[in-house]
Amino acid sequence: MKTSTPPRLLLTAGPTREHIDPVRFLSNGSSGRMGYALAGEAAARGCAVELVSGPVSLPAPEGVSVRRVVSAADMLAACEPLFGACDVFIAVAAVADYRPRVFASEKMKKNGGALTLELEPTADILKTLAARKHPGQTVVGFAAETRDVEAYARRKLETKNLDWIVANDVSRPGIIGMDSADNTVLLLSRAGARLAFGPAPKQAVAGFILDAVLPGLVRQ
Ligand code: CTP
Repeated sequence: MKTSTPPRLLLTAGPTREHIDPVRFLSNGSSGRMGYALAGEAAARGCAVELVSGPVSLPAPEGVSVRRVVSAADMLAACEPLFGACDVFIAVAAVADYRPRVFASEKMKKNGGALTLELEPTADILKTLAARKHPGQTVVGFAAETRDVEAYARRKLETKNLDWIVANDVSRPGIIGMDSADNTVLLLSRAGARLAFGPAPKQAVAGFILDAVLPGLVRQ
């Protein structure tokens, strides 16, 4: 049975880029595949899906509206007007935690010596939006960790005011996690659920996550 109005999902995916000058930036190796897999699977299940994506080389999943952004600030600005109307927000993006304090509008020239970059924190998109959560909304975060995965994930579940967190071991890049086809996840909920899954292709992991966070929505 399908619900009469399809759930509205908002997702973030991919990395962000924090520019130093017009040709250089700080970023990370997120491929965007986990977020795109979740968005595509949710659309295939009949959800209305908005995806706010950092720079990745993936096409828009079928039936998904994609807004492409570059920096953490852009990503927050794109999500803010959409958050209030969504039923479920899933933050999959690997958002850069810091950005250069100063952006050089011209390409920086090397001067032979060392270079010190001063960095300032970016906005925490998930924490900012979760603080505005209204009753009935479900907010899901990801926790990319290289050690003490469950303990750090639980801390993020609490400090970011989340309903679910998907803990992700990224200690073996290219094998599981950020820039690989497969993933192994541990889902923890505010209500006390603890569900492990994988290793499995990201499409299967996406299905598992949606089964947990969207109970009652049956596959079409
Ligand atoms: N996140 C976000 N905005 C940020 C940083 C993180 O929305 N500026 C979200 C991510 O999309 C993810 C969750 O917060 O859903 C946790 O991200 P993660 O990188 O694991 O943790 P951080 O909060 O950045 O903390 P730390 O780097 O200290 O582990």
